[in-house]
Amino acid sequence: MSEKPELYAEVRKQIASVIAGETSATARYASAACLLREAFGSRFFWTGFYVVDPLKPDELVVGPYQGTLGCLRIPFGRGVCGAAAATGETQLVTDVHAFAGHIACDSRTNSEIVVPVFGPDGVLAAVLDIDSTEFGAFDLEDQAGLEAICRDLLTA
Ligand code: SME
Repeated sequence: MSEKPELYAEVRKQIASVIAGETSATARYASAACLLREAFGSRFFWTGFYVVDPLKPDELVVGPYQGTLGCLRIPFGRGVCGAAAATGETQLVTDVHAFAGHIACDSRTNSEIVVPVFGPDGVLAAVLDIDSTEFGAFDLEDQAGLEAICRDLLTA
């Protein structure tokens, strides 16, 4: 089993090669969610995207994901995804129960990381949400690896 940074570099390459030339953002999100879950297995309990609703630009709506049923909509500023959308910054949460306003889509989630995804115009397009049943499942290596993947997602 590779070390985490190497594994992220490998998944980043896989995603880039699958989505090259693809014009549909949905196809890009779906491929990334699938390949991340395939690479990390059950360590990633919920892996997917909440996209900015074009009709309600201060609300996220669920996009492609792998995992148990997710909430459909999250207003900017609510929960971990809403905080990432409102600030444009990655949220690394070691204990979701201690995070004010956390939205419990599945009560088995205990920690999570949410990374913003920007379009080529620099405007927020979506957030990548990864949840774990373990406390403190994500660290700065996960943050660096996922931020690199999200940087490429709509621009490469
Ligand atoms: N945990 C998220 C909600 C989304 S789901 O867990 C799939 C949050 O508080 O933003």
